[in-house]
Amino acid sequence: MTFKIGLLGLGTVGAGTAQILLDSAGRHPLLQELEIARVGVRSLDKPRDIDLPADILTRDLESIVTDPEIDIVVELIGGLEPARSLMLKAIASGKHIVTANKAAIALHGAEIFTAANEKGVYVMLEAAVGGGIPVIQPLKQSLGSNRIQGVMGIVNGTTNYILTRMQLEGADFEAVLADAQKLGYAEADPTADVDGLDAADKIAILASLAFGGRIKREQVYAEGIRQVSAEDIAYAEKLGFVIKLLAIAKREAGPTPQPQTEIEDRLQLRVHPTLVPKQHPLANVNGVYNAIFVEGDPIGQVMFYGRGAGAGPTASAVVADILNVAAVLKTETEPIPHPLLSCSHQHYCAIA
Ligand code: HSE
Repeated sequence: MTFKIGLLGLGTVGAGTAQILLDSAGRHPLLQELEIARVGVRSLDKPRDIDLPADILTRDLESIVTDPEIDIVVELIGGLEPARSLMLKAIASGKHIVTANKAAIALHGAEIFTAANEKGVYVMLEAAVGGGIPVIQPLKQSLGSNRIQGVMGIVNGTTNYILTRMQLEGADFEAVLADAQKLGYAEADPTADVDGLDAADKIAILASLAFGGRIKREQVYAEGIRQVSAEDIAYAEKLGFVIKLLAIAKREAGPTPQPQTEIEDRLQLRVHPTLVPKQHPLANVNGVYNAIFVEGDPIGQVMFYGRGAGAGPTASAVVADILNVAAVLKTETEPIPHPLLSCSHQHYCAIA
């Protein structure tokens, strides 16, 4: 069985995603059943390192989302429009969606998920928060039995990279930002990163999942790191703290609201530079690494940690989502062996 993928965008994450799909050896066996059928790009002439046949590239992104051959549309162009409209058109055409687009999901998630529910298709967004860190599925599933009290995290790799270098090297904000852009961590317009807007999108998504209600993006207070100076960082250090840009969603004290839709009235939702005690696990999350610290009942404290930005880590989450959709589509027609029993997955052959 072959699942055809329509990839929208061949930038940092798009190229990283294509690279994994083209190099399937030693990875999940289902990767061999995925085909990059068409790729939507802004420019056909741009030189690229990736080995894709020229005739699958097109500037006509709309023709991809309505192409009857395509099973899964992978939206990696980012931003609000045309990403939102393209995803809605793809859903209307019965395609499953995989996206890394936190801004479109945070702002238009309700519209996109409603359309997807009506059409019976999946919208997967593991890559939208925390780059390669599995956090969306775990919050939805593995922690599903918990009453979540709070989610707090470092969810923007660019600002964490900048703050870390300012802290360790006494480096200048602007110079480090330029490096972050060169390394492909920062958004094309770094305003969203440095002003805390990217982190606010992400905490709105995490809060919706953790608290089971629709969190409106505009409810999140957002303050970035432009005002943080090397002097602030040095004073914090003397007092036993580090400065981190934290995204926080936590329940106010009091009874659990009923029904769940009232939840947003009882939440603190905020992003701002925060003094974190040096002994707290989040204080030691440095560079482009992200971490999401969750407190739930009955699990207690859990922390998800890993690389939160960049081509490889983000593509890792994108491809995982593609595989999850493909696995479900495949079980609709044939049972697939449990990975622990699949001999095509080398590490597990001993068990089989
Ligand atoms: N610009 C984002 C960051 C990319 O720095 O975290 C990942 O969403």
